[in-house]
Amino acid sequence: MVLTCPHCKKQHNIDEKLIPPNIKKARCKYCGNQFLLPGRQDTEAPDLTAPPPPEQKGPRRIGISISKGGVGKTTTAVNLAAGLAFAGFKVLLVDTDTQGQDSFMLGIKPKAGLTELVTEELTANEAVVKARERLWLLSGGKSLAGIKRLIDRKDFGGEMTLSDALKPIEDQYDYVIVDTSPGWDPLTVNVLFYVNEVLTPVSLEVMTLQGLLEFLKSIATIQKHRKDVALRYILPTFMDKRVKQSIGIMEKIKELYGPLLCSPVRYNVRLSEAPAYGQTIFEFAPGSPGAEDYRELVRKVAGNPKLLR
Ligand SMILES: Nc1ncnc2c1ncn2[C@@H]1O[C@H](COP(=O)(O)OP(=O)(O)O)[C@@H](O)[C@H]1O
Ligand SMILES: [Mg+2]
Repeated sequence: MVLTCPHCKKQHNIDEKLIPPNIKKARCKYCGNQFLLPGRQDTEAPDLTAPPPPEQKGPRRIGISISKGGVGKTTTAVNLAAGLAFAGFKVLLVDTDTQGQDSFMLGIKPKAGLTELVTEELTANEAVVKARERLWLLSGGKSLAGIKRLIDRKDFGGEMTLSDALKPIEDQYDYVIVDTSPGWDPLTVNVLFYVNEVLTPVSLEVMTLQGLLEFLKSIATIQKHRKDVALRYILPTFMDKRVKQSIGIMEKIKELYGPLLCSPVRYNVRLSEAPAYGQTIFEFAPGSPGAEDYRELVRKVAGNPKLLR
């Protein structure tokens, strides 16, 4: 076959049979340019689901996100963060929702939080509150509306507002877990410009796959501008084996996104009771299916099957 170098346009006469099947690229002997061989897939092409490139330093930054409410985002953010902290990691939980549920679920009432950090009214040490051993919180709440306006008013770089605020403090932690609001707003975009891993809870009770697909398209849009963010985990929530639809949606997700699929979190009334007591599921009902399922998630995310046994 005759190959033309796309750079210098010189032609090469090559016997195709001599090219091993695992070789995807050729190098032009005239100009040194590397190019893809015809008919061979470029496995280096960016892929929505590809894991992010290994980080040189800093914490793992994980956003819990999907543009839908009531699917278990906050429950997951709080219990994943608490579980990682119980397992021995230092964790910062960041609440970017105006509802400010994360502090409620942890049973604390911080006077300040993310807003004061971003507006530089307070220093990081004043804005971050200790919620448990090895677990710190930057709380959300109504005042975040002001941050959204602040982001909107910026002529450029608005999407980096959250990153700029968190970068100077993130190195003290092993994990930064970011809870998001249900909608698609300037703060959600900021979260996707900060984290490099996204965990998406999919409620098997209310979710149609359409919602997941739409959210994935939104992530793909962000990826055009920021390559190192990727969907890493899909977490089925509200799993109820008695409901046929649950199994059906699970199987479909497995077919489409197999490697990203986590073991589901079952429907468990203990998970909905715990917040009223300001306790994580590990404190409120450590023997419950909910605690068991979130321990499994901690092991999956940390990549260590021995944790919390
Ligand atoms: N697996 C579950 N089983 C039963 N109730 C749950 C479960 N996960 C979450 N809940 C409850 O469902 C409601 C919505 O969950 P939440 O985490 O606040 O969702 P989101 O943050 O996506 O809006 C809360 O009352 C929560 O306690
Ligand atoms: Mg929430």
